[in-house]
Amino acid sequence: MSVAVIPSLPKKLRVAEPFLIQQDWAAYTPEQHGIWRELVLRRMPQLEQHACAEYLEGFHQIGLQADQLPDLTAVSKRLQPRTGWQSTPVSGFLPADAFFEMLAARMFPTTTWIRSRESMEYTPEPDIFHDVFGHVPMHAHPVFGDFLEHYGKICAASKSPDVLERLGRLFWYTVEFGVIRERGEIKVYGSGLISSHGECTHVIERGAGLEIRDFNLDQVLEEKVDSGNMQKVLYAIESFDQIYEATKEAESRLG
Ligand SMILES: [Fe+2]
Repeated sequence: MSVAVIPSLPKKLRVAEPFLIQQDWAAYTPEQHGIWRELVLRRMPQLEQHACAEYLEGFHQIGLQADQLPDLTAVSKRLQPRTGWQSTPVSGFLPADAFFEMLAARMFPTTTWIRSRESMEYTPEPDIFHDVFGHVPMHAHPVFGDFLEHYGKICAASKSPDVLERLGRLFWYTVEFGVIRERGEIKVYGSGLISSHGECTHVIERGAGLEIRDFNLDQVLEEKVDSGNMQKVLYAIESFDQIYEATKEAESRLG
């Protein structure tokens, strides 16, 4: 007996809709594919040793390749059956309400431009390397995927700037700069560490002034973010369940 496969209908977005674009993959130049390749090949040897197992599994599960920029439709095709997440192309930096709305719908807002050769180490705004190489592999992990959707939902529902600032710190010290203890060793999973050679080296070599504390929700919600310098404090989790539970705890406390 054959079973008809019903394609999932596109989700309707209220505020993020105007920011959605198509990725014109065929328009990338050989030079741009070359920049992606150089960035990936530079990061992988360090990450194979120091990224968490879930990131490395996700990288292969979503089919990322070193030699060409990712086709976001192909990435989503591999990701969606696993966790329901998609990597959805957007026109650039999103206003907070549009960003949270997309996370709550399991659509990760993904930029399609790639940095130039002059700014291989750092770009002030996220590009496709930060977004796809840095973030998207973690979305193949079921608990991380549940955590991120829930985070989006509680932020989308909040109208308080103070609450959103605190929740922004939770995002910063997990999704962007998270580290996890695996068999007693610190491994990176935050996209800001995955995608930056300098920031990641700072963590691995325990650079000057860096303190790695056990994850503590109270401390994280109070820890101000410094986006202009190397991180001075990071919070190590024991499992991804811990940040999912912490997010629910933050919701009940701050809501
Ligand atoms: Fe990011």
